[in-house]
Amino acid sequence: MDFNLSEEQLMIQQAARDFAQNELLPEVIERDRDQKFPTEQVKKMGEMGLLGMMVDPQYGGAGMDSVSYVLAMEEIAKIDASAAVVMSVNNSLVCAGLEKFASEEQKVKYLTPLASGKVIGAFALSEPEAGSDATSQKTTAEDKGDYYLLNGIKNWITNGGTASYYIVIAQTDPEKKHKGINAFIVERGWEGFEIGVKEDKLGIRGSDTHSLIFNNVKVPKENRIGEDGFGFNFAMAVLNGGRIGIASQALGIASGAYELALKYAKTRKAFKTEIINHQAIAFKLADMATQITAARMLCFKAAVEKDAGKDISESGAMAKLYASQVAMDTTIEAVQIHGGYGYVKEYHVERMMRDAKITQIYEGTSEIQKIVISRSIAK
Ligand code: CAA
Repeated sequence: MDFNLSEEQLMIQQAARDFAQNELLPEVIERDRDQKFPTEQVKKMGEMGLLGMMVDPQYGGAGMDSVSYVLAMEEIAKIDASAAVVMSVNNSLVCAGLEKFASEEQKVKYLTPLASGKVIGAFALSEPEAGSDATSQKTTAEDKGDYYLLNGIKNWITNGGTASYYIVIAQTDPEKKHKGINAFIVERGWEGFEIGVKEDKLGIRGSDTHSLIFNNVKVPKENRIGEDGFGFNFAMAVLNGGRIGIASQALGIASGAYELALKYAKTRKAFKTEIINHQAIAFKLADMATQITAARMLCFKAAVEKDAGKDISESGAMAKLYASQVAMDTTIEAVQIHGGYGYVKEYHVERMMRDAKITQIYEGTSEIQKIVISRSIAK
């Protein structure tokens, strides 16, 4: 596999790096403290083409490849993992699914504003009693002829409070199990659709995570995505790509923490020398650098396979499983290397450690990734 980056890929990487340094870094600690959504920054990310990176320009996207997406995600997540998840959900779970599976009318009406970053979207699959076991959807979409009647509750929905359009997965015919599930585009503000509580989270506190309540919401038939009963397969296909986004977010959190730890270790002195000269610290950094490089390769592999039109269920799951573990391990060690400074907010690494944890949970827990990988290799 050729990982020589093209000029265009290097340009987008640099642009994302500059943006993160100049626009995301300045108030990242305050946004984390106050659970403040990066509204202005997300708007600028839209203008830069970062919210619909891989979508055809015909539908408002930037028309880039998935490797560029990995590169940009890493740079954004290095500085602000909350902004990165907004970007990942909009790109991978919302825009990618619509571009691949929506009707032409749906693409014009919904994908175009979403991909150009004029509005943002959310993906609503998880429920109070259906997270990993995604087929047991309790939200119902009753077929009423020319519309569906949507009832139920969704939980932990990223962009839940700020999105304009929501992709909602619901059960239409429980007899048919997962073949009775549908996916719908639901607009904010429709009668009976209420945004529920905002979660007070351990990490990614700048992103807004809400429950959603649907109480007899009328969804026009033309807002169903794909054929009747396609919703579960739609969700699975979308999540395969989403896992590249979250893997890249995890990679960014890890490499951000590593860079800070390396810098600190080169300047902080203990026992008459910089602490990087102590093998106990140098070996930690060596492990971090190796694992981050391996995680990056897995992200690139999945991205290259996605662009080649291959089945990425296995490579996406491997990238997410591994990169999220690396994010957790690296951030814990980055805090350790910083000692007492690592435990206070000013040095960033404690936030990164808190942010890292979610990458092992959302868009399929690490245990779910192992189910996906083991089923694939057993085939
Ligand atoms: N790719 C494509 N299709 C897949 C698939 C995959 N990775 N996994 C399953 N499928 C398909 C199967 O082929 C099957 O389709 P057919 O009947 O047409 O052949 C169908 O889905 C059902 O498959 P299974 O019988 O294997 O289903 P299962 O109940 O045993 O479980 C699972 C499958 C992989 C565990 C699945 O439920 C799963 O991925 N769960 C995790 C869900 C998840 O990631 N939730 C995260 C929420 S979204 C989120 O976090 C967003 C956010 O805000 C950040």
